Amino acid sequence: MYRKWIGLAATAALIVACGLGSAQAQEKKEAHEENETPLGKIMEKVQKLNIAVPKYVRNAAQYQKSRKDLDKALEEYIKLAKDSKSIREPYVTNVKDVKEPVKKWDEIMDAWEKTLKEMADGVKKEATSQKDAKQLYENVKKTCVDCHTIFRVEKEAF
Ligand code: HEC
Repeated sequence: MYRKWIGLAATAALIVACGLGSAQAQEKKEAHEENETPLGKIMEKVQKLNIAVPKYVRNAAQYQKSRKDLDKALEEYIKLAKDSKSIREPYVTNVKDVKEPVKKWDEIMDAWEKTLKEMADGVKKEATSQKDAKQLYENVKKTCVDCHTIFRVEKEAF
């Protein structure tokens, strides 16, 4: 009799534990889906290029081998930068302590596109070395940081 009750209590505990487990999983899933903003989706594609491009310019041999791929990647990259520019909301509204947020947003977006174009033009020229190309990409990355520092508010801050 006593044993039977222990068994029941254990079963009940197991059911409770499972219920909690799936509730937590559900919560996590929702938090992830919340992240899927239109700009977030573009940024995921941007991130893929942000991994590919440094690989193409990693060293001289790789650079020579990848020039065509690099050219293609940069064309795609420029397109993504162009698509991002008009998605200012809600970022320019939510930001604090920035005087003219729309102007600031557009400035950084323009700098992003400009540095990408400079790199795309650069790698089309035979005289551009791997070192030059690497530096051109450093200029691009600076614009990512500039914008994220101001406009990309981490979820934890809310
Ligand atoms: C002018 C502004 C701006 C520039 C430039 C910019 N980003 Fe972003 N990025 C954002 C904002 C705003 C978010 C947050 C989007 C959201 O979650 O709604 C973001 C989010 C991201 C994310 C997270 C995507 C996700 O899963 O939600 C990655 C990765 C990212 N950016 C990479 C980059 C890289 C790499 C560059 C440069 C090559 C770059 N970004 C340039 C504004 C910018």
